Amino acid sequence: MSLRLGDTVPNFTANTTEGEIDFYEFLADGWGVLFSHPADYTPVCTTELGKTALLKHEFDKRNVKVIAVSVDGIDKHLSWRNDINETQNCSVEFPIIADEDRKVAGLYDMIHPNASETFTVRSLFIIGPDKKLKLSLTYPASTGRNFNEVLRVIDSLQLTAKYSVATPADWKPGEDVIVVPAVSTEDAQKRFTKGVTIVKPYLRYTPQPNID
Ligand code: BEZ
Repeated sequence: MSLRLGDTVPNFTANTTEGEIDFYEFLADGWGVLFSHPADYTPVCTTELGKTALLKHEFDKRNVKVIAVSVDGIDKHLSWRNDINETQNCSVEFPIIADEDRKVAGLYDMIHPNASETFTVRSLFIIGPDKKLKLSLTYPASTGRNFNEVLRVIDSLQLTAKYSVATPADWKPGEDVIVVPAVSTEDAQKRFTKGVTIVKPYLRYTPQPNID
């Protein structure tokens, strides 16, 4: 059964390029991104892990721990990591899980047999500090993911967890946000002191509340 938004994600222990980990202990009280890739020594995966390494400081700023997984073994991960660092001009410092027994792949439904019987697809999960699933996405092997989009979603999730707002299509940090329908306009005008723009009674914008 696949994981659904709001579900508590399963814990596991795993062998990784950074040693044995307990997933919940690794996440501690922060956010997490767990993402699978089909196989080591493949071109798209090389660029994805490189991009994630180059964005590591952005994930750190948001208190997000990143961890990758595929069904390859630890020695292969370690030697491939050298290639990623060399070709993508980066330093991969997040763990890569060696999921040879497909334990993690099974728990997170990362093998889609009609795509491949043996390899994990490009799954990605954003996990909140409450260990609940906040986003999942699945890309095919042929399409590399957009890790700046993952950061953008995390910005939205962290903002909307704190304030009664939602973010509109294509929102970027710093742009106006939407007042959620559960808040009356009268209440919104009291809460959002930077002002509320009423386009329709159900479509109300306010400047992003947590910036000056
Ligand atoms: C890749 O990462 O380049 C890749 C992996 C599996 C199938 C196709 C592409």
